[in-house]
Amino acid sequence: MNITMIGAGYVGLVSGACFADFGHIVTCVDTDEGKIARLVRGEMPIFEPGLDELVAANVREKRLAFTTALEASVPGADAVFIAVGTPSRRGDGFADLSFVYAGAQKIAACLEGFTVVINKSTVPVGAGDEVERIIRELRPDADFAVVSNPEFLREGAAIEDFKRPDRVVIGTDDPRARDVMSEIYRPLNLNQPPLLFTSRRTSELTKYAANAFLATKITFINEVADLCEKVGADVQDVARGIGLDKRIGGKFLHVGPGYGGSCFPKDTLALIKIGQDHSSPLRIVETVVAVNDARKRAMARKVIAACGGAVRGKKIGLLGLAFKPNTDDMRDAPSLAIVASLAGDGADVHAYDPESMAQARSLMPEVTFAENAYDCAAGADALVIVTEWDVFRALDLERIKGSMRAPVVVDLRNVYRPADMRKRGFAYVSVGRE
Ligand code: UGA
Repeated sequence: MNITMIGAGYVGLVSGACFADFGHIVTCVDTDEGKIARLVRGEMPIFEPGLDELVAANVREKRLAFTTALEASVPGADAVFIAVGTPSRRGDGFADLSFVYAGAQKIAACLEGFTVVINKSTVPVGAGDEVERIIRELRPDADFAVVSNPEFLREGAAIEDFKRPDRVVIGTDDPRARDVMSEIYRPLNLNQPPLLFTSRRTSELTKYAANAFLATKITFINEVADLCEKVGADVQDVARGIGLDKRIGGKFLHVGPGYGGSCFPKDTLALIKIGQDHSSPLRIVETVVAVNDARKRAMARKVIAACGGAVRGKKIGLLGLAFKPNTDDMRDAPSLAIVASLAGDGADVHAYDPESMAQARSLMPEVTFAENAYDCAAGADALVIVTEWDVFRALDLERIKGSMRAPVVVDLRNVYRPADMRKRGFAYVSVGRE
């Protein structure tokens, strides 16, 4: 199949490279000339494990190309994916669809022969109808079908998620589009993930419902963790105890400083807005968003309490800034709220993150950035594990303790065991455990 991917951002780049690896011929188009020039040189605009090798191999095999010339890439394509950004619109939390609709207009001008136009960007219910309307209005003669095919990739595990999905959701009622989509995903047959064909609107809503449910699951266990601290229970065991029930499932029950990233915060807000607009409020999701926001600030108070109630003039070392490990993404990272609260209370905040410091520098001007975890800990009155990068799982704890001003560790991801840490002489605070 000939595939054109509009948008060489996170989703477009990963999906494009994986489709090429399946054997399809893929052209990734982006309006950002600098980004395309870097991709042509083999430089990745994002950090995603394995992506550079995957891109290089498929470029070498001439299955993957990058260009700014949309008008040359759409004619002759069997499928044109729209994978542009849908940021939260300032003020109302609604997804900003201007890039999606601009993409639809440009595609319309170049359509030739039957073409499937697929929305991969996360779009509110009904956006597919609008894309179809835009194209139909500009090109009444065109032969096309608009399909919804949301992505369920996790940053840091995106290639694995793409190649071994739990399911692929495809929203279309058009039999020809269904055939094209089946052919595009045929290489997955070996792993036999279900291709779930639904109506377009159902597919659009499924994406939001999935992210909102996962955000709810995380927020639920985080609140249970707070209760565990009050009643003397252990949230790790509670999570295991409920997660082994197959109806609940053990995933996304890991406690922490609150969810962040480019998806859960944006998509929960967008779903709330859709519900309000249709007089069908999602009150559980509304509460999840409020609880999660408050949690990020509460984590700073946890650090302050561990420091004896005040941090003014104290050095606090943060390990990890990205919203989760294996990404350099700082969007809605809990570290942003934690740093703002600690610095606001007069702390001297130092931080180290293996990948995100370049991005963090401009977002956190008050922070001093360290070369590594040990520099970050040296002379600190407290060390806070904010993101559970693997390099923080096996730190030389003797060295850390010897270099700190006070051996206080606040572990917001429960990486270490309370009993071990106490035996080593740390004043150790974690989440939802004794
Ligand atoms: C999420 C979904 O997991 C993907 O399926 C979806 O495709 C994607 O959003 C999207 O809509 O594009 P992502 O944001 O990359 O993926 O990251 P997750 O691994 O889901 O983590 C999100 C946040 O939840 C992180 O801040 C993470 O630390 C937190 N989290 C996750 C927890 O606090 N506990 C958990 O048990 C799991």
